[in-house]
Amino acid sequence: MPRIVVCRMIPDAGLKLLRAAFGEEHVHVAPQDGPIERDRLLDAVRGADALLPILTDRVDGEAMDAAGVGLRVIANYAVGYNNIDVAAATERGIPVTNTPGVLTDTTADTAWAILMMTARRFGEAERYVRAGNWGGWGPMQLLGVDVHGKTLGIFGMGRIGQAMAWRAQGFRMRVIYYDPARPEVDRDLAATAVDKPTLLAESDFISIHCPLMPETTHAFGPAEFAAMKPSACLINTARGPVVDEAALADALKSGTIHAAGLDVFEDEPAIHPKLLDCENAVLIPHLGSATEETRGKMARIAAENIVAVLTGKRPPNCVNPEVL
Ligand code: DGY
Repeated sequence: MPRIVVCRMIPDAGLKLLRAAFGEEHVHVAPQDGPIERDRLLDAVRGADALLPILTDRVDGEAMDAAGVGLRVIANYAVGYNNIDVAAATERGIPVTNTPGVLTDTTADTAWAILMMTARRFGEAERYVRAGNWGGWGPMQLLGVDVHGKTLGIFGMGRIGQAMAWRAQGFRMRVIYYDPARPEVDRDLAATAVDKPTLLAESDFISIHCPLMPETTHAFGPAEFAAMKPSACLINTARGPVVDEAALADALKSGTIHAAGLDVFEDEPAIHPKLLDCENAVLIPHLGSATEETRGKMARIAAENIVAVLTGKRPPNCVNPEVL
């Protein structure tokens, strides 16, 4: 029977499926509470037929070789798979799978929630109330900026970017987007493709929804912040390294841009100290897909991909189908 290694406790929906298919004793869940350390990961994967890593596990050639030649599938517990060296997996003929679709709306909800928090200063307002500073209603108290009727710029118009555009319709926003891979999207979205300079210059809110790739690393740095409106807010629920965090902290402190809402960080769980010090930054700990329902669906999909490969079927969510 195969050895299945799950690198961190995940919702039951996925574990049940794996245990039902292969037997309880063949599904090994790493016992630690927190990201698995590198040495322990290399040790835990030894002899694995299937790996189910989470986005904090770096699965590179070394980890694949530590697993050994029996490794037949890597089923990432995330839609983003920048933690997996897909080229190394392809070289070794190993399919890599992800969990697309099920977290689209949940992640767009998160992006929308932090966009609203950022615009209306709700993080700061909550800190103010809890600190016992509220002395009653005031005409000039904690004034934010309106969201409705403004221009939303979407950087990366895949599934989550488009879900964001649908939400913007309810707020009667003008939606523009930059995505060289998608010159056209559903007409009903009423979203206009623009180049990056136009997105930067015309957006009141920019929401990032691109994958992390060499071309998108530090896609937002000093030059981009300088090109944005001083009243603009930047929202990132994609991957931290898309934004140069130190440069963002400088831009927030100097007023180059107005505010930022971040769910993801360059070197998680570390956050640039200057950013922690910015009242005009909303910071949440990578919660994009964090609902009971969605995390359960992600666990099920990752497990289904493993079951498919180990029973000789095509995995439904393979990101390197050339190996199949
Ligand atoms: C993903 O699936 O890539 C998300 O970041 C997890 O929340």
